[in-house]
Amino acid sequence: MKYLLWISFLFIGESHGYVRLTNLKCESYDNTFVVFPECRLKVLGRGIIGANMHIKFLKLPINRMVLRFTTYRKLTGYHPFLFNVSDELCRALKYPNRHRVVYYFYTAFMPFSNINHTCPYNDDVYIRNCTLDDRMFAKVPLPKGIYKLTLEMDDGVMNWASIINIYFEIDID
Ligand SMILES: *[C@@H]1O[C@H](CO)[C@@H](O)[C@H](O)[C@H]1NC(C)=O
Ligand SMILES: *[C@@H]1O[C@H](CO)[C@@H](O)[C@H](O)[C@H]1NC(C)=O
Ligand SMILES: *[C@@H]1O[C@H](CO)[C@@H](O)[C@H](O)[C@H]1NC(C)=O
Repeated sequence: MKYLLWISFLFIGESHGYVRLTNLKCESYDNTFVVFPECRLKVLGRGIIGANMHIKFLKLPINRMVLRFTTYRKLTGYHPFLFNVSDELCRALKYPNRHRVVYYFYTAFMPFSNINHTCPYNDDVYIRNCTLDDRMFAKVPLPKGIYKLTLEMDDGVMNWASIINIYFEIDID
C-alpha cells in the first residue's frame, strides 16, 4: 500500500529539483488506433521540467481500454521495480477504488489533463505541463536512482496499441 501512496504523489504539485523528468517517448504500435502529435518535455522554469502530450485516438468513442503500468529501476539496464499492474480504465472510472493502482495514476494525471470524466471518451487527450513532485519522498523514501515508468494502452480488444515511456531521476542527498 505504501507504494500506492508513493505513486499518488508522483505527479502532483511542483518539483523542487530532486525528482526530475529526463525523457519522454511515446510510441504507437497501431497508427490506425492512436497517434501522438505531441510528446515532449519542456522547460517550465528553473529546474522544472514538464511533460506535454497530445494523444489522438482514431477510433472513437473509447468505451473500454486496458492500461498497464510498469515501473523500472536502472541498474545495468532497466529492471522491473515495484509495479506491473493493469486495469480496465472505463470500469475503474465508473467504480473508483482507491486500492487500485489505475485510480492513483488517473488522479495523478487528471489535474494536468482534459480526462476528468468517465467513459466514453470522444476527444483527443492532452496532458499539459505535467511535473513530478518530490514531497512524497518525505513519506516514502525511494532510493536515489534512474527510473522509468511505462504506460501501455490496448485498443479495446486486448492488443497493445501504444507505449509511453516516462524517464525520471531521483537525486536526494
Ligand atoms: C505551460 O507552461 C508554459 C510555460 O511556463 C505556460 O506558458 C503555459 O501557459 C502553460 N500551459 C498550461 C496549459 O498550463
Ligand atoms: C508484466 O506482467 C505481464 C502479465 O503478467 C507480463 O506479461 C509482463 O512480461 C510483465 N512485465 C514485466 C516488465 O515484468
Ligand atoms: C473537468 O475540467 C473542466 C475544465 O477544466 C471543468 O470545467 C470541469 O468542471 C471538470 N469536471 C470535473 C468532473 O472535474
